[in-house]
Amino acid sequence: MNVFDVLVVGELNVDIILDKILGFPRVGKEIISKEMNLTLGSSSAIFASNLSSFSTEVAFIGKLGNDNFSHLVLQSLTAKKVHTDFIIRSDLLRTGLTVVMNYGNDRANVTYPGAMEHLKESEIEDEMLKKAKHLHVSSVFMQPGLLPDLLKLFERAKKMGLTTSMDPQWDPSEKWELNLPKLLPYVDVFMPNIEEFKYLTNSRDILSGLKAVEPFCNIVVIKDGERGAHLWNKNKLISKPAFINNKIVDCIGAGDSFDAGFISEFVKGHELQRCLEIGNLAGALNTTAHGGTAAFKNMGQIKRQAAENFSFQF
Ligand SMILES: Nc1ncnc2c1ncn2[C@@H]1O[C@H](COP(=O)(O)OP(=O)(O)OP(=O)(O)O)[C@@H](O)[C@H]1O
Ligand SMILES: [Mg+2]
Repeated sequence: MNVFDVLVVGELNVDIILDKILGFPRVGKEIISKEMNLTLGSSSAIFASNLSSFSTEVAFIGKLGNDNFSHLVLQSLTAKKVHTDFIIRSDLLRTGLTVVMNYGNDRANVTYPGAMEHLKESEIEDEMLKKAKHLHVSSVFMQPGLLPDLLKLFERAKKMGLTTSMDPQWDPSEKWELNLPKLLPYVDVFMPNIEEFKYLTNSRDILSGLKAVEPFCNIVVIKDGERGAHLWNKNKLISKPAFINNKIVDCIGAGDSFDAGFISEFVKGHELQRCLEIGNLAGALNTTAHGGTAAFKNMGQIKRQAAENFSFQF
């Protein structure tokens, strides 16, 4: 019996966000920041939280330390009704952390990956997969413990009858080593942004990249920022423009929110054009509030905001 619509496998960390910093940090000196926020970070957690707000039952598998930050992560996910029982906590590891130093539209980040690097494929049990209809894996390059056995995980999920999706996210090492010909046959929806897609396929544009993956891919969704998104399925490319937001607050997490909107419709069995449209809507909604999760509370509020900001009726 399925209990969850979507099982998310991903990285977890907290963000310490420093704003209104008086100057730039320099070794040997100390400067003051006039604003600080401590919040749930990580793109997988933003995805899971927002997917849950779209009335989807979501469970999470990831790795944390056994420290104060792990409590914050668990409380934040639980507050968004994400099921956290599968999350593994280790006394030997520390919860991941990103220190974000905001300077206007730009930022300097320092990340301590900690526990997120240690999740292994063997820790994702059949019993967990069995409980879900769909598996979504995100931020694969941030999870070096999982990456070598990613294919095994997707093979297992497909064998057990789940549908699957993957958002690779950025590769901080910029090596882009992912065996797409082996992996993509087991990924029903592959969801990179345009830059990631070009690096992963070693291509200069979308069409040549699609030509390279066409022999072995299923559905490919390419996020293209304020230009919207593109969907490739059965040799056909569909592009949909973004919803226009003239009052952008910030774009943090727009890609994760897009994924949440898209997958919420996908697991309900809606047409791919509709999935693409709700993905774009969720990405645009994300830009109406600070950070990645503030724009998403529940379906009622999402519907109201969609109507108010984008004249969109569900
Ligand atoms: N300025 C914008 N206005 C309206 N919609 C936007 C804007 N920026 C992004 N979006 C929507 O959000 C989606 C995802 O954005 P983007 O292409 O930046 O993803 P991403 O690079 O994966 O983001 P992330 O950094 O969150 O991982 C876009 O496909 C689009 O639908
Ligand atoms: Mg992204």
